[in-house]
Amino acid sequence: MIYLFFGAAFLFWVLLRVTDTRNNSKTCLVGKTALVTGGNRGLGFQTSLGLAARGCRVIIACRSNAEKDKEQIINLTNNPNIVLKKLDLTSFKSIRSFAEDLNKTEEKIDILINNSGVGTISEELTEDGYQIINQVNYLGPFLLTHLLIGLLKKPNRARIVWLSSFSVWLNQLEVNSMGAKKADLRYLALTHSYADTKAAIVVMSNAFAEKLKPFNITSNALHPGVCYTDIFQAADAVLPTLFVKLFYGLGRLYFKSPESGAQLTLKLAMSHSLKHLTGAFYWDFYSYPSPSILSDKQFEAELWKESEKWVHLRDQERI
Ligand SMILES: *[C@@H]1O[C@H](CO)[C@@H](O)[C@H](O)[C@H]1NC(C)=O
Ligand SMILES: *[C@@H]1O[C@H](CO)[C@@H](O)[C@H](O)[C@H]1NC(C)=O
Ligand SMILES: *[C@@H]1O[C@H](CO)[C@@H](O)[C@H](O)[C@H]1NC(C)=O
Ligand SMILES: *[C@@H]1O[C@H](CO)[C@@H](O)[C@H](O)[C@H]1NC(C)=O
Repeated sequence: MIYLFFGAAFLFWVLLRVTDTRNNSKTCLVGKTALVTGGNRGLGFQTSLGLAARGCRVIIACRSNAEKDKEQIINLTNNPNIVLKKLDLTSFKSIRSFAEDLNKTEEKIDILINNSGVGTISEELTEDGYQIINQVNYLGPFLLTHLLIGLLKKPNRARIVWLSSFSVWLNQLEVNSMGAKKADLRYLALTHSYADTKAAIVVMSNAFAEKLKPFNITSNALHPGVCYTDIFQAADAVLPTLFVKLFYGLGRLYFKSPESGAQLTLKLAMSHSLKHLTGAFYWDFYSYPSPSILSDKQFEAELWKESEKWVHLRDQERI
């Protein structure tokens, strides 16, 4: 029995190492502009760093004051072309003024990486009346991407990269889930809520991929690998603290670091060999196996239509 356990643990460890993406893309990004939401922490920070190291202009959009993170990126890369912008995804108003501001200050966006995400649920709703997790992870990015289409059309072959997660397998997504006004606070409901947003992201990415084909804009979602950041976040809410600490400690040894986890995002954002890839749910060199609802076209169309209403999209903003 014990051999079986250690055998399985070892095989899993090997699998994780084998699928640990290397940042093998050597693409130069001088002259390109990337927008990274939530680009100041965890995977987002490492993603910004990787882009900056290759000469990219990086706009980091986040809620908190990230001067220190910006300074650190500039110190490490010697690339002064790093811009901080305030963006609060829990507010459609903030998203709109952010997009307007960007529209004025930037000529184009080559790479849009939607990296921010929360993993908590509470009874508190956003100022727009939605659950925080749904608005930050899904509704906000849905609206933001619409508002940035003008800038994304400017360069030929802009790329949109969405961070999803292996947890899509736990989803109980229904058309109305993302617009739900009331949080489900039952034990383990967080796992479903989080997974629902991650599943909705893949559905949204696929829809954007289809609609943006005529403009040569690609849209792909990815499973970054098992990084101890999101595992910790999800575990934190449901497990006793001591257990989480232990889990976290072991996780550090076992799972990917944020730095390593960011490499796949970077690859999707810049690799020449993936230039034409669109509508994929990517996982290292494989397509991530996903529940059938993620490729259900009718569901996709219904979710899209409802999402347009939830974010109060104007007629001229539809794509
Ligand atoms: C590439 O990956 C290695 C190892 O993960 C890391 O040390 C290095 O900083 C990364 N380089 C860039 C530019 O992201
Ligand atoms: C960046 O470098 C400057 C000058 O060397 C130093 O004063 C500052 O503390 C560094 N900042 C960070 C966040 O590393
Ligand atoms: C961006 O500017 C263009 C014209 O320059 C305008 O058509 C578009 O509506 C603007 N978008 C936003 C989100 O402000
Ligand atoms: C898309 O890319 C193709 C091939 O590079 C090019 O011929 C076409 O003009 C591009 N379309 C747009 C809208 O940029």
